[in-house]
Parts: sequence; C-alpha cells; structure tokens
Amino acid sequence: MAILITGGAGYIGSHTAVELLNSGYEIIVIDNFYNSSKTALERVKSITNKNFKFYEGDILDKDILNCIFSENKIDSVIHFAGLKAVGESSKIPLKYYENNVTGTITLCKVMAEHNCKKLVFSSSATVYGGNNVSPLKEEMPVGATTNPYGTSKYMIELILTDLQKSDSDFGICLLRYFNPIGAHESGLIGEDPNGIPNNLMPRITQTAVGKFPYLTVFGTDYDTHDGTGVRDYIHVVDLAKGHIKAVLKLQNTAGLFTYNLGTGTGYSVYDLVKAFEKASGLTIPCKVEKRRAGDIAVCYSDPSKAEKELNWKAEKTLDDMCADSYRWQKNNPNGYGK
Ligand code: NAD
Ligand code: UD1
Repeated sequence: MAILITGGAGYIGSHTAVELLNSGYEIIVIDNFYNSSKTALERVKSITNKNFKFYEGDILDKDILNCIFSENKIDSVIHFAGLKAVGESSKIPLKYYENNVTGTITLCKVMAEHNCKKLVFSSSATVYGGNNVSPLKEEMPVGATTNPYGTSKYMIELILTDLQKSDSDFGICLLRYFNPIGAHESGLIGEDPNGIPNNLMPRITQTAVGKFPYLTVFGTDYDTHDGTGVRDYIHVVDLAKGHIKAVLKLQNTAGLFTYNLGTGTGYSVYDLVKAFEKASGLTIPCKVEKRRAGDIAVCYSDPSKAEKELNWKAEKTLDDMCADSYRWQKNNPNGYGK
C-alpha cells in the first residue's frame, strides 16, 4: 500500500518524501512542476537511495488522478499541491481558488470513488487571521483571512470538515503549519522560490549569497521585544516528520483532526538574522522600512495538541534551521536552476 503525495516535488513535499522513504513507506508523487523542478525528485532518490513512482500532471485533471488510483493501491494521500504566494493570490484570485479549492475537491472526489479515505492536508497558521492572541490554539476561531491564499486554505478546511461529516469513514488531518524554514542536512534539497522571495529566510539566504545587497526589515515599531515581527519558525524536516505521525494517526481512526505544527517559540526578525549570522559567519546588512501591509506583530503556536495526540514535537533548534538553510543556498545559489 502506497502513500500518494500531491505536490511532492515542492519544498515541504520533497522533504516529506525523504522522511517517508527513510521510514520504509512506498510513495507515489504527482506534481505539475508549476513551482518546482524534476531535479528535486532526483535528489530525493539520491538522498534515500530509493526509487518511487512519479506522475507529471495536474490535480485538476480527474483522468490522471483516476489513472493513478487505478494503477496503484493507495492507502492515504498527503496533499501539498497548491499555490502559496500571498501577494500573487490577490492579483490572480481565481487561479488560486481554482487550483487550491477545485483541485482539492477533484482529488477528494476521486479518492472517494476509489474508496481511499485517509487525507492529510497542508493548512496554514494564516487561517487564524489577525484577531487571535498567540499562542494560537486549534480551538480558536478561524477565518478572518486577509488574502485569497489564506481564504483558500480556510475554505478547504470547511469543505473537508463537511466531507468528513457526510462520510464518517473519512479520516482527515488538517495540519496548520507555522513558518517552515531550513533544509535537508545533505544540502541537496531546500526552498527554491520563483523570482524575488517574499518570505524572510529565503530573502536572508539570497542576501548571504550576494543576490541582494541587504535585507529589508519590514517595521521595527511592533510591540515586541525588539520592535520587529515575531514568528514561529519550524525546521522543514521536523514538519515533514509531523506528516508521518498524521498518517499513523489515520491508520486506525476515522474523524476530523486539526493540529498546529510549530515549535511554540516565537523569534523576531532580528533574532533570526543574528542566528543566521552566527551559523554562517557572515554579516547580513539590514535596511529598515515601514511595515508590510497585512503583517501582524506576533504569531506563534501552542503545539501541545500535536504532542499529546500525535506524539510529535519539533526537535531542531533555530541554529539548525539557519545552518541548514545556509548550506542549501550556498551549495545551490540558483536553487534547482529551474
Ligand atoms: P511549493 O510551492 O514548494 O510546493 C507545492 C507543490 O505543488 C509544487 O511542487 C507545485 O508545482 C505543486 N502544485 C501546485 N499546484 C499543483 C497542481 N494543480 N497539480 C499538481 N501539482 C501542483 O510549496 P510548499 O512550501 O512546499 O507548500 C506545500 C503546501 O503547504 C502548500 O499547499 C502550501 O500552501 C502549504 N503551506 C506552506 C507554507 C510555507 O510557508 N511554505 C506554510 C503553510 C502552508
Ligand atoms: C507569510 C504569509 C502567510 C504565509 C507564510 C508562508 C503574509 C502577510 N503572510 O507569513 O500567509 O502562510 O508567509 O508562506 O505574506 N520580513 C521582513 N523582511 C522580508 C520578509 C519578511 O522583515 O524581506 C518579516 C515580516 O514582516 C514578518 C517576518 O519577517 O514579520 C516573517 O515574514 P514571512 O517569512 O513573509 O512570513 P509570514 O509573514 O509570517
């Protein structure tokens, strides 16, 4: 029995593929390479020294999904495939809703037709919106999202909740990721954003390898210990391991489960810059600008539910995250060269 990974060539999907293969699972990947490269899958094979089946295709294409489920015995699905650029989502909202929401509906229809009813879904801390006070807990109200990307995640959470209510055989884990950074310790796979990175860590690593003259710090007037925004950065390998725990949870239990995947600790922009400088031995020049629209001051998780129910806890430190992010960027200054 295999696990289907949608979006398995992407940043989190490729790291999860490595952890699954290393734990002895059979995996099958589908990706359309909209935001990734075949090289990532080759690297997954060389890190693990294991092979797996791969389909190049789109989750909006019911025929290819039917073909995958007919040709293979699939026990569970880990569903990463989605578009994730917050700014872009406001410019092309219909594409985001179609890809993320319709893509998930298409996938779930095909799963149900093939009687595959175990699904792990990539949600995001963004569903908590700006009105809750950290540490964020799963039972807090969600939905005050501020952009189509975030709203698509919220809508999918609602749709999957309704699906599970309508068919109690479904086992669904909604995993709300906080801020994934870091890379596999081999330096062979990592985050490779298209164009100018929006997120903090890729911006720091690309500054470190000379692609930008400085890091722009978006606001130093927040109500935080040093005035910069605070987030819950989590190592992507810890995050990947959380998916295995979610798959295990669904082995014997149907139902709808929601978990935060974070460390529970918030670090500021300057904390991250300092840790990166220590890990790399470099200086990252910083230029302060005004706050970025849509940002909140503080966002970190209460991860205790995942620890209690999944027996999962993030283990890697901020220093590990910085060292691994830097190794990946230094070894691959142009990412996968896609
Ligand atoms: P990513 O862009 O690196 O990976 C997503 C993968 O899905 C890519 O390989 C892309 O080519 C593929 N894909 C997209 N649409 C597809 C489609 N219609 N059919 C087939 N493949 C498709 O992103 P990531 O950082 O690995 O994120 C994975 C998931 O986690 C996404 O759903 C994202 O929204 C969610 N998430 C990410 C973060 C983060 O900070 N990285 C935070 C919270 C949630
Ligand atoms: C952002 C998205 C969020 C998404 C997440 C992962 C917004 C408003 N939020 O979260 O929906 O789920 O990415 O893709 O875009 N910062 C700088 N300089 C930079 C970049 C960032 O100072 O060049 C600061 C930000 O102001 C913030 C922190 O660094 O305080 C983290 O930013 P980022 O990595 O973009 O993540 P989020 O804003 O938490």
